Amino acid sequence: MDHVNTILKTLLDEAHTVSERSYAPYSGRKEGVIVLLEDGSMVPGVRVENASFQLTITPLINAITTLYALERKDLSAIVSNVPFTESELAYTSLLSGYNWELVAANVLMIAGAHFPEPTTFLEVTKSLLAGSDGDQETHSTGIQAARKAAGSAFIPESDFPVGCAITTTDGLMVTGANVEHSDWSQILCAERNALSTAISYGLKEPENIYVSCPKLIGGTPCGACRQVIVELAPRATVWMDAGNAAPNAMKATDLLPGHFTGDVLKRT
Ligand code: THU
Repeated sequence: MDHVNTILKTLLDEAHTVSERSYAPYSGRKEGVIVLLEDGSMVPGVRVENASFQLTITPLINAITTLYALERKDLSAIVSNVPFTESELAYTSLLSGYNWELVAANVLMIAGAHFPEPTTFLEVTKSLLAGSDGDQETHSTGIQAARKAAGSAFIPESDFPVGCAITTTDGLMVTGANVEHSDWSQILCAERNALSTAISYGLKEPENIYVSCPKLIGGTPCGACRQVIVELAPRATVWMDAGNAAPNAMKATDLLPGHFTGDVLKRT
């Protein structure tokens, strides 16, 4: 087996492993991708389903939006444990400037990019100080992190940045920003980006969700995000940046009274 195939095999094994983290109670389809970056680090993306099916996040979009929100554009290859769909392949047109080559049904490589040995997973979480959870300091750290994340939004369509920070019951924080696409149906909001990144990295349940819209102080999550938040983080509190005033807090379930639950649709 040549060098490239050995690396691809490693990435495929990792894709299989991370696919187990998928949230796929409706289909049972555990799907995962690994993005290899030019410095050898890896970023996982898994399938994240939703009761309203259409809001389901594919592994490829999950991973790429994680990277874009970190302003990491040094992609080298993407390997999936299942074949890429037409829609996922179309999505990659977002990544202008890359010369994509579909070398197998589940392997995308970028011509001319470095193709290093995979090393470790890219670190995307921050540890919160033990015992600080639930206090004012955590909330101000969360709002600051959401504001900072908004600075990395990828917003060629709207020029409207949104940032989100999530703290989980395992004392970790992960952030997200909105990542846009010329096909508006493929845009991922900051909240859903942060939530799906948390799932790709196997984090525990979200406890606090901080949202900042720097161009609309007091802005609140859109309907699609509310539907996803209530399913993935039903016990969380959502904190909305209110500028110099204290953030507005709402229970996730109060954001969407009478919401649709998919319990009757679940297979697993
Ligand atoms: N957006 C979010 O990121 N979160 C929301 O809750 C509202 C909307 C993004 C989506 C799109 O990139 C831009 O803001 C305009 O809707």
